[in-house]
Amino acid sequence: MCGIVGVVSNKNVNEKLFNGLSNLEYRGYDSVGMCFINGGKFSIKKGVGKLEEVHKKVNFLKLNGNIGLGHCRWSTHGGVTEKNAHPHVDCKNKISVVHNGIIENYSELKDELTKKGHKFYSQTDTEVIAHLIEENLEGNKVEEALRAALKKVEGSYALGILFADEPGKLFAARNESPLIIGLGKNENFIASDVPSILSYTNKIVYLEDKEIAVLTNDGFDVFDLNGKEKRKKVHTIHWSKESSQKSGYKHFMLKEIYEQPRAIADTLNERIVNNSIIFEKEFALSDDFLKKIKRIVIVACGTSWHAALVGEFMFEELAKIPTEVEYASEFRYRHALLDKNTLVIAISQSGETADTIAALKEAKKYGVKTLSICNVIGSSITRISHDIIYTRAGPEIGVASTKAFTTQLAVLYLLTILLSKIRKTLNEKQIKDMIEGIRKIPLQLQSVLDEDDEILECAELYYNKLNSLYLGRGINFPIALEGALKLKEVSYIHAEGYPAAEMKHGPIALIDKNMPVVVIAPHDIYTYKKVLGNIEEVKARGGIIIAIATVGDKEVKKRAKHVIYIPKNLYTLSSILAIVPLQLLAYHIADKLGRDVDRPRSLAKSVTVE
Ligand code: M6R
Repeated sequence: MCGIVGVVSNKNVNEKLFNGLSNLEYRGYDSVGMCFINGGKFSIKKGVGKLEEVHKKVNFLKLNGNIGLGHCRWSTHGGVTEKNAHPHVDCKNKISVVHNGIIENYSELKDELTKKGHKFYSQTDTEVIAHLIEENLEGNKVEEALRAALKKVEGSYALGILFADEPGKLFAARNESPLIIGLGKNENFIASDVPSILSYTNKIVYLEDKEIAVLTNDGFDVFDLNGKEKRKKVHTIHWSKESSQKSGYKHFMLKEIYEQPRAIADTLNERIVNNSIIFEKEFALSDDFLKKIKRIVIVACGTSWHAALVGEFMFEELAKIPTEVEYASEFRYRHALLDKNTLVIAISQSGETADTIAALKEAKKYGVKTLSICNVIGSSITRISHDIIYTRAGPEIGVASTKAFTTQLAVLYLLTILLSKIRKTLNEKQIKDMIEGIRKIPLQLQSVLDEDDEILECAELYYNKLNSLYLGRGINFPIALEGALKLKEVSYIHAEGYPAAEMKHGPIALIDKNMPVVVIAPHDIYTYKKVLGNIEEVKARGGIIIAIATVGDKEVKKRAKHVIYIPKNLYTLSSILAIVPLQLLAYHIADKLGRDVDRPRSLAKSVTVE
């Protein structure tokens, strides 16, 4: 993971680098460092801890220069120490490197370089890059040395590199780790993601694998590893500057939970036309193909995997297409049985999750069609897959995924309508009802958000409990998983999600008067009555029941200690409504416990290593 930012300008870049780095902190916060060039020498400051903590000690804003690099670390190789914090330099202190990724052959390279006399100061894989470039610099230009070095490197990297003797040039390279170029006025940027530099530019160039970029304050060039120049497209990103700021909210997570009505409205915008679903030109799968597919396989990780489970339910129940959901990390290493009648869908907020990228690449080996559902325009996954549907959540900064999840559900729902229509598994009336249902969602979500005070009360009562159980059935079983994941990741309280009836096969033994049990129990024709039975079972064992029920429901109220109501809508849409109180519950509990909600320990926003 780790975050990288770099700026080259005709004026001091200090503040821009600092701000860029603080926007990237969600990617890693073990340690942080910055480097500038002044009079042919590097000025470097770094330390262990979060940006603010290290800044208090070293005062990053005292560093000056028209060119600089910044890095926040999520450690992979080498402990969390100042020595292991980036940037790393070569023996002569002339090459400075920041890195995100894993150099897989670093140990062999380090041995070779050590034998040649290079002295290493850290335990990181990154430092070998600085020495490897140094080793290749003898008699070569820096560009040649960089190419020669990268040809020897195996693994993933997004690199920012400075040469003390080239004070006007910022170098960058990528392979399987995200890196973008931002084009400003008399200044240019590199960064791990778009939001980190959105305050300065929305003109973005995406680097591809095995490309090297050379930036000056008035231009940039991109080459392949053989020095062949590449033509690059400049993308204009239409995210507002405010979308990457907290805008008065205490945390990004809270802001993003509250943005969901808007995010869903944006995701639907102009995609529903006269009872039909029309996606943009990036989605070009023909009706003929969609009619023919015999199977869908969805690959994803984490929260996106939970969205995939909701998708599975909808595709099978309504579009009648057999669907399987796979953890991308598992799928990539097994030989799945895929043929040309299978559609493989990858779901990812960031579009940069290493396992999901690898799973897509694996699927493509079988010659199947691939579709990605993704939030970040131009991200790796969208460039690998044949077709794309964008969720339009806007930048999601909080590590805990919230609005990305509900917009993924909205896209899966629209796709289900499209498939059901083409395959004639639903009639016009049913399609119309589905469309009316989703159109109500933005307003209904607002009414769920209006219940925040009651959710806060629950959080205040139970934030000191050590365990909790989340139960749901059918389309809301994945919501139980997602609710539990939200609580775990931001509050560090142990939580498990289970299909409600499965509880009897083990977890019920855990239930006593200290166990909050969150039950998702919307009114439906499927399992509602069964869930009432499950609530009784929990109650009989003294468990504290917090239920999510449909407005007007009296039965759940009779049995549960607390009830949070969601509005009436189609059963397939209950999951979008039910997750929001669970996001808020997790948020308030974590906040009460004083957790660093947007930067939970050990987590990073996009998991770009496997
Ligand atoms: O960017 P992606 O959707 O591919 O990320 C997948 C997971 O890493 C992500 O959903 C993770 O589980 C979140 N922290 C959950 O809130």
